[in-house]
Amino acid sequence: MRRSIVIGCGAYLPEKAVSNEELSRRIDTSDDWIRQRTGIRQRHIAADGEFTSHLALHAARDALARAGCTAGDIDVLVLATATPDNTFPATAARVQAELGMKRGAAFDVQAVCSGFVYATSIADNMLRLGQATTALVIGAETFSRILDWSDRSTCVLFGDGAGAVVLRAAGGGGTNADRGILSTHLFSDGSGYEMLYVDGGPSTTGKSGHLRMHGREVFRHAVTRMAEAVEISLQSNNLSADDLDWVVPHQANIRIMDSMAKRLGLSREQIVVTVDRQANTSAATIPLALAAADADGRLKQGQLVSLTAMGGGFTWGSVLLRW
Ligand code: UT7
Repeated sequence: MRRSIVIGCGAYLPEKAVSNEELSRRIDTSDDWIRQRTGIRQRHIAADGEFTSHLALHAARDALARAGCTAGDIDVLVLATATPDNTFPATAARVQAELGMKRGAAFDVQAVCSGFVYATSIADNMLRLGQATTALVIGAETFSRILDWSDRSTCVLFGDGAGAVVLRAAGGGGTNADRGILSTHLFSDGSGYEMLYVDGGPSTTGKSGHLRMHGREVFRHAVTRMAEAVEISLQSNNLSADDLDWVVPHQANIRIMDSMAKRLGLSREQIVVTVDRQANTSAATIPLALAAADADGRLKQGQLVSLTAMGGGFTWGSVLLRW
């Protein structure tokens, strides 16, 4: 059976890191509140003139180098973002051009914080079907551009960044037996539209707008939906939470991750956490966390890893894979 194996991870964070202390000098908040309620210590913010495509490009080059690939090897580039450079064309098209990728297809996927899970699912299906052999999947965001910096209940929570993975189809034999993506699971419930949205857009106001969120509602959904999505993926592969080595969840709030881990009966040590250093980078959190855990040697070949996210829409989902 053809399976998609992660053969390289890449990451990029803008140079400028902004601490909670720094934010508390500009808005009515405190390091104490932000840490206690979210676990966030700092976030990275893109420089003037630094766009989502630039962050994506850095992460893509890093992932390609670690995978030992060139842009010429890529059959499909899927970029998850809710903060594209322009309304159209897709930011993926700009990244494709900058990489010097002359063939294949490049397109964006919009599922907000679940974007990377959605993009991975699409790429995995293309690889399994034989439509592509090698895929570049990127999550990249500049949420700092759509934040209302006078709204303390949202602006302290997000940051900018990009992460990427290279997926390669393998036949499942030899040393790669059992490795790769076992299954992906996508869900949405549009009745949650107004719980987390941007109050603008090309068809409504003609302006990009600002992020608005009912934090408590989103929190509640995030815990239950992410835990559910992990459980569904385990059940559909006749596995249980006891078989899991790692969960790499969307990084919005450490309390969401702790509650999810508790529901699944997992220890805090099994959850890969980057929210403290990077805050919520929406579609970029999972590939950034994967890249961190890969780089420090935590992820070992053959281990069972679950990726899960929940975001605006509402959207949510999971990817179960053997590293
Ligand atoms: O990626 C998916 C999308 N995002 C999420 O998953 C985020 C989900 N939600 C959350 O993480 C949490 O709901 C928040 C971190 C957003 C808020 O935490 P909370 O414990 O639900 O706080 P709250 O909204 O109930 O606010 C508690 C208090 C309020 O004051 P009063 O009314 O109790 O006097 C807020 O005004 O905290 C106040 N507050 C702040 N205080 C200092 C809200 N934001 C801040 C702030 N600094 N930045």
